Amino acid sequence: MQKLIFIPRPKLLKRCYLALVLCPAVLTFGCTAEADVQAGKAAAAQCQVCHGSNGISINPQTPNLAGQKALYLSNQLLAYRSGSRTNNIMSPLARPLSDEDIANLAAYFASLPAAGTP
Ligand code: HEC
Repeated sequence: MQKLIFIPRPKLLKRCYLALVLCPAVLTFGCTAEADVQAGKAAAAQCQVCHGSNGISINPQTPNLAGQKALYLSNQLLAYRSGSRTNNIMSPLARPLSDEDIANLAAYFASLPAAGTP
C-alpha cells in the first residue's frame, strides 16, 4: 500500500513551485499589460474626426466609443486588425495598430463619460 503514495522528489517539487510562481506572472503580464490612457488620448486624435472629440459621434453610421468597456473596444480593434471583423473604414485603420496602441486607445475611450451620463 505504501508504494502507492507519491512522494515528490525535492528537485521536482522545486520545479513545480517555480512553475506556480512564474505562470501567473507571465499570464498577468501578457493579458493585462498596463494601458496608458494618456498615450491612448494622443493616438485617438486620428479617430476623433469620425468618433467625435469626446468619443460621441455625430454621424449616425459611426458608433460612440466613450464609456464603452475597454475589453470590448480592444477586442473589436483586434478583430478588425486580424480580419475576423471587417469594415471598409475600420479594417485599414486598425491594421497598423500595435497591441499596445489598441490597449491604450481602448483604455482612453473607456475612460470617457458615456453619452447620456449627467
Ligand atoms: C473615417 C471614419 C473613422 C475613423 C477615422 C475611425 N473610425 Fe472607428 N469606426 C468607424 C465606423 C463607420 C465604424 C462602424 C464600423 C462597423 O460597422 O463595423 C467604426 C467602428 C469602430 C469600433 C467598433 C465599435 C463597436 O461598437 O463595435 C471601434 C472600437 C473603433 N471604430 C475604434 C476606432 C479607433 C480607435 C479609431 C482611431 C484609431 C477609429 N475607430 C477611427 C469610423 C471611423
